[in-house]
Amino acid sequence: MHFYGKTKICYGKYALDTLEEVYCTRAFVVTDPFMVKSGFAAQITSHLERRDIPVEIFSDVEPDPSLETVKRGALAYAASKADLVVALGGGSAIDTAKAIIYFACKAAEELPRPVLAAIPTTSGTGSEVTSISVVTDKQNSVKIPLNDDMLIPDVAILDARFTRTVPPSVTAATGMDVLTHAIEAYTSRNHNAFTDILAVEGTRYVFSALLRAYQNMEDMQAREALLLGSCMAGMAFNNSGLGLTHSMAHALGGQFHIPHGCANALLLPHVIRFNSFDAGVRYRELARIIGLPHSNVEEGTSALVNAINSLCDAMKVPMRVRDLKVDETAYRQSLDSMSIHAYNDLCTKGNPRRPSLGDIKKLFEAAW
Ligand SMILES: NC(=O)c1ccc[n+]([C@@H]2O[C@H](COP(=O)([O-])OP(=O)(O)OC[C@H]3O[C@@H](n4cnc5c(N)ncnc54)[C@H](O)[C@@H]3O)[C@@H](O)[C@H]2O)c1
Ligand SMILES: [Fe+2]
Repeated sequence: MHFYGKTKICYGKYALDTLEEVYCTRAFVVTDPFMVKSGFAAQITSHLERRDIPVEIFSDVEPDPSLETVKRGALAYAASKADLVVALGGGSAIDTAKAIIYFACKAAEELPRPVLAAIPTTSGTGSEVTSISVVTDKQNSVKIPLNDDMLIPDVAILDARFTRTVPPSVTAATGMDVLTHAIEAYTSRNHNAFTDILAVEGTRYVFSALLRAYQNMEDMQAREALLLGSCMAGMAFNNSGLGLTHSMAHALGGQFHIPHGCANALLLPHVIRFNSFDAGVRYRELARIIGLPHSNVEEGTSALVNAINSLCDAMKVPMRVRDLKVDETAYRQSLDSMSIHAYNDLCTKGNPRRPSLGDIKKLFEAAW
């Protein structure tokens, strides 16, 4: 067993100020258009320019970043000669920054790896502490997870002020991503004592803060709790791996461009029931920890599923694929290919129950 945590995590009030402690001579900021429009990107540049550090901004990141965007970013980054990359945004911006570094350094071995500072603006992916970057091959409608320790950010700056503007629907979806990370890390075949602590805390933070942040965007206590929970769940799954919910969400999201957190939310209850023979004791334990009925494994597992469904219901998160503007014929025609992608996805290895291709197809059918 092992636990690896390389990222220096800076959090709390004025956490952004710690960017001034990161040594660099030139900086390259990877972000999305909203961050420029909202003035968040300017917050970063002003911190760097105060130290006379030249800054270049690459702000072309789109949700579910494509390989094409990454290629353009890698060329711009290599030309910038930056020794610091700042990733500002949700999982899409942070993953793009990681993939830019990955491809630029692979293409030119003489290029030293820059320092990577990640500033998450959603409480969701935990990408600020993980070795993973998910990019989308749009031609083949498939998400490709890159996994390499060189992608782990050196610094994560958790400053909840950047998450204050996340709209309720994105708060809900990204929060359900955190919950799925925490639950899948807790029940993964490769969980250990260290990942358990982080996964449990991640679960607690979601159940105590997500609905509050959804109902009141400016509840900063809830925002701070979610940002910490997201980071903890990220640290947990970076060591334990995930499970079948994520494998299936990657396949579903790659094919139908459903937000990652929404895909997880609607698949999670199906996968929990599917895993209940192998992981029921762990689900019951989570139910106990968050104060749900848990007199036996069946009751604890059902209570956890009901709590997830109620939370999603309260946040108007669609819990069936048919409620997501997906064409039924296209969905049914994609069942085989999505099942194959999910079966071969790296996350499937961590799932407590070994699924067959047929099992995965049935789960996709049930999720319609
Ligand atoms: N690297 C990992 O470990 C990992 C884990 C899970 C998922 N992912 C990937 O991360 C991506 C999803 O990331 P995400 O869920 O954070 O969403 P995202 O980064 O795609 O952002 C979603 C939307 O929210 C907007 N947004 C972000 N921050 C905002 C803010 N503060 N205020 C207002 N709007 C804001 C963005 O502009 C965007 O339109 C997917 O590609 C997914 O596959 C990566
Ligand atoms: Fe995720």
